[in-house]
Amino acid sequence: MKTKILVTGGTGYIGSHTVVELQNAGYEVVIIDNLSNSNIGVLDGINKITGIRPVFVEGDCTDINTLRKLFDENPGIKGIINFAASKAVGESVQKPLLYYKNNLNTLINLLELMPEYGVKGIVFSSSCTVYGEPDHNPINEGAPIKPATSPYGNTKQISEEIIEDYIRSGAPIKSILLRYFNPIGAHPSAEIGELPLGVPQNLVPYLTQTAAGIRKELTVFGDDYNTPDGSCIRDYIDVVDLAKAHVIAMKRMLDNNDTDSVEIFNLGTGRGLSVLELIASFERATGVKVPHKIGNRREGDIEKIWADPKKANEVLGWKAEVPVDETMKNAWTWQQKISK
Ligand code: WQD
Repeated sequence: MKTKILVTGGTGYIGSHTVVELQNAGYEVVIIDNLSNSNIGVLDGINKITGIRPVFVEGDCTDINTLRKLFDENPGIKGIINFAASKAVGESVQKPLLYYKNNLNTLINLLELMPEYGVKGIVFSSSCTVYGEPDHNPINEGAPIKPATSPYGNTKQISEEIIEDYIRSGAPIKSILLRYFNPIGAHPSAEIGELPLGVPQNLVPYLTQTAAGIRKELTVFGDDYNTPDGSCIRDYIDVVDLAKAHVIAMKRMLDNNDTDSVEIFNLGTGRGLSVLELIASFERATGVKVPHKIGNRREGDIEKIWADPKKANEVLGWKAEVPVDETMKNAWTWQQKISK
C-alpha cells in the first residue's frame, strides 16, 4: 500500500518537480491547485516523466470546505507538502492583504484539518528570505530572523511561527520547514519547468527568455555592490535537487519517531554565485549569448546570501548535486521547448 501525500500547489514550479520525485520514490500523490499561477497541462508533463498521473483536485486551499471534501474523497493521506502560496515579492508590496489571506489561511486550514484526518506531518515551503540581509555568509539555520522586507517574506516568517505555536500547543502533528535559497532550472526531460506568467520577475526565466529573443535585453540590477564583480550574490539551487530534498524530508518526518516535532533546514548548494557569473555559466553551457546591460539596483534586493547546507547534508543526508552549468543547460532546453 503506497503512502499517500497531499501536495498543495502541485502544478506549480517546485511543486510539480516534487510530485515527480515523490512518485519516483513510490509515494501516491494527490494535488490540489487553484491554477492561479500554473497550468493544468503540467499533469501531462508529470505523467510523461513517471507514467503516473497524480490525482488532481482543482480548488482553493483558503476554502476549508474544499479541503474537507478533498480529505473525505481521498482517505488515508499521511503527509502534506504545502507549496500553495502567492510568491511574488514585488506584488506582495502592492497587494499585502491578498498575500496574508492566501498564504496564511491556506496554512491554517491545512493545520486545522490534519488531526481530524490523521495526517501526521506537514513539510512547509519556506524561504531564505526570512533571514533578510544576513550579517555574514554562509548562513545556517541558527542565523537571526530579520524583520521581513516584504509582505511575502513576512508570510513565510508568520507561517513558521504558526506551525511552531500550533505544535507547541499540543497538536499531534510534526513539521519540517525547508528554507529554500534560489531555485532554478528545469527537469532534464524538458517535460516540466518554470512557467512564469507575464514578465518574469526572477533572474533565470528572464535570462532564458532574453536568450530566446522574447525579451530584448537582460538588465543586471546593479554592479556597485560590495561583491567581487559588483553584482548581487545568491545561492542558486537546481529545482530537481530541491525536489529530492522534500522527499527525504517527508520520509524522515513520517518514518522516524525519534525526530523533533519541528525541524528546520536550509536548502542551498553552499556556493554563492553573482548575477554576472550566472550569465557566464549560461553562455558557457549553451553557447548562446545573453544580451545584457548594467542598470540601477532593484529596490529591496539584498546584496549577498548563500547557505551553509551542513545540517541538511548531515542530518537529512541530502546534498545539492547538479552542477550549475547543467542546470542552465536544462533551463535553456525547457525555454526552447515552450518557445516553439
Ligand atoms: C536574483 C538576483 C536580482 C532579475 C526571490 C524571492 C525569494 C524567492 C526567489 C520565492 C538578484 C538579479 C533579477 C533581473 C537581475 N522567491 N536580477 N535582473 O530576489 O533573490 O529571490 O525569488 O520563493 O523569496 O525573494 O531572486 O531571481 O528575483 O533575483 O539582475 O531581471 O538576480 O537583483 O540579485 P531573489 P531573483
